[in-house]
Amino acid sequence: MKQIWPAALVAAATVTAAISPITSVGNKFFTSSGVQFFIKGIAYQLTPDDPLVDTEQCKRDAELMKTLGANTIRVYHVDPKADHSGCMSEFANAGIYALIDMDTFNTYILPNNPWWNQTQYHAYSAVMDAFSEFDNTLGFFVGNEIIAKPDQSMAAPFIKAAARDMKAYRDQKKYRKIPIGYSAADIAELRPMLQDYLTCGGNASENIDFFGLNSYEWCDPSTYESSGYRNLESMAVDFPVPIFFSETGCNVPGPRLFEDQAAIFGPRMVKDWSGSIIYEWIQEENNYGLISYGPKADPTATGPNVEGGFTRKGQPTPVTPDFSNLKKQWATITPSGVAISDYDPSSVSTRGCPTSTPSGWLVNGNVALPTLGETFRGSYTPSPTVTGGSSPSNVQSGTASASPTKNAASVRGEITRMGVGLVVLMLVFTLWP
Ligand SMILES: *[C@@H]1O[C@H](CO)[C@@H](O)[C@H](O)[C@H]1NC(C)=O
Ligand SMILES: *[C@@H]1O[C@H](CO)[C@@H](O)[C@H](O)[C@H]1NC(C)=O
Repeated sequence: MKQIWPAALVAAATVTAAISPITSVGNKFFTSSGVQFFIKGIAYQLTPDDPLVDTEQCKRDAELMKTLGANTIRVYHVDPKADHSGCMSEFANAGIYALIDMDTFNTYILPNNPWWNQTQYHAYSAVMDAFSEFDNTLGFFVGNEIIAKPDQSMAAPFIKAAARDMKAYRDQKKYRKIPIGYSAADIAELRPMLQDYLTCGGNASENIDFFGLNSYEWCDPSTYESSGYRNLESMAVDFPVPIFFSETGCNVPGPRLFEDQAAIFGPRMVKDWSGSIIYEWIQEENNYGLISYGPKADPTATGPNVEGGFTRKGQPTPVTPDFSNLKKQWATITPSGVAISDYDPSSVSTRGCPTSTPSGWLVNGNVALPTLGETFRGSYTPSPTVTGGSSPSNVQSGTASASPTKNAASVRGEITRMGVGLVVLMLVFTLWP
């Protein structure tokens, strides 16, 4: 006679393999057993709204990602009302953590006219509520490339206000201390001021827990010296919180060799950096994909699994030779880092809040952070503790020159990706009877 298992027993038999939650201490990530954790990540956004709702698809992708050597995904948009438990356990089973952006398409902090209010707070909180229960939630972003141009640094206090309030929300809800950080565009004029500002002032409750940099400076073939990585490293020495590449993988001219991975995890950078996230899993119009789900479709084709000319579901097939190039790189990289028992977090530096300069960084010192509900009024109140320096800059759009092409790929990648998604969504809505 055929054995019929009660549903509860089946569920109990398929429990998620244990994955150790990650915490940040000083400028490093650690597992709960005190082993330093380095991110080998992949940007994962198959569909604009939420790629973490289709358990079967997550299983197929997680299994292939595991063979690639990845241990983290980054997801830019999720639907907090959806059920993510299936996908999160498939990734956990493959030893893969998730970094989740909390903002949604209509709750971004805007760069030129920033505000931070209850609508955003509730939207971000809903994402945190949806993901805080999973042991493999590695962290949350309060924003991605909010500051996308050199003259938009006046938005920075709003980023810090969002981090302050979401950290307070996390603690008030007694969630695990899931790190909360920001993912920055790589803008030469704002280096290192933005990363210093988000971690300055001496009050950890108001500072980000990690800093992600979207950098496409290393285009193979390149070197530590000629790529700009040496300069990035010099600004990251003893950084106060974990710092990592939240997007990397320049595809010009291609194919990608991912030789920057050897530098990031090598002797010159590994002491200060916590890894990197490769942009991106799915092949689409921007040509950054590591896998595809089928041949390129007609750009106007619509169907259950096709958007923007690309199939977005199915069996993932590696893109040649990029996938195997990355796999080879990561296979050679096994940084041991430092054990938490041997680590002295007081060895990190504290950063001063940068003074404004007329055509560069526009926030003068440790200004009073916006309160929840505040809209930018063109200037900031100096914090009483700030001494010296000139008066706060009232310049909202300075005379900063256009950014060098170095950050163009990053901005273009994100905008293109979002643009395609949005256009497709609009098409779908327009064509729907
Ligand atoms: C937040 O600001 C946006 C834009 O001004 C507005 O639409 C929304 O109603 C505000 N939310 C609250 C709770 O005031
Ligand atoms: C640190 O920041 C938090 C959040 O803004 C605030 O409640 C607290 O009073 C600050 N602590 C000090 C010592 O200023």
